Amino acid sequence: MTGPARLVVLVSGSGTNLQALLDACADDAYGARVVAVGADRDGIEGLERAERAGVPTFVRRVKDFSSRDEWDRATAEAVAGFEPDLVVLAGFMKLVGQEFHDRFGGRVVNTHPALSPSFPGMRGPADALEYGVKVTGCTLFVVDDGVDTGPIVAQRAVEVDEADTVDSLHERIKAAEREMLVDAVGRMAREGFTVEGRAVRFGRVR
Ligand code: GRF
Repeated sequence: MTGPARLVVLVSGSGTNLQALLDACADDAYGARVVAVGADRDGIEGLERAERAGVPTFVRRVKDFSSRDEWDRATAEAVAGFEPDLVVLAGFMKLVGQEFHDRFGGRVVNTHPALSPSFPGMRGPADALEYGVKVTGCTLFVVDDGVDTGPIVAQRAVEVDEADTVDSLHERIKAAEREMLVDAVGRMAREGFTVEGRAVRFGRVR
């Protein structure tokens, strides 16, 4: 790869993970830059963060397409237009489909607010709290066709406090998630990475 790695980031919400990447990319030594931000909905802070940083944005809403497959194809098409080296799902609340896997398989990472393989799905922090675990955390993984099941790139542990609510726990997880994301995506960009079965390793193939 010559020049910084090209990141396309997909978001659905407040975009604090995106912001952490945008901030990291401001330093040339980080080795990556966010070339576009996509979303599945309008009016979110994540898109405003991209606009403030002067990064192009696009929105593809499921309801504007005749089927989920059409939406997936349109999203994949929009992402492909920015020629990403890596696609980062950062709080993107949709599962990507076949077209997306076919085009970018092995180059899509997602961040999940739980320690995989525990508590997959949309309610990671709530499920951890309800289960009564003392330690939870966050996971960065290479997307496969399951729900939060792909090969693990990085994880961070977060202790659960007795007084935690879902929101307070999720906020602490998100702080760890931002650090994990910036660290791991930077390494993927600078060092390259390989995926062999479930093993993800930094560094290029020798
Ligand atoms: C993160 O915890 C992400 O893992 C989860 O939603 C949160 C997104 O936060 N799916 P933000 O939009 O990056 O602030």
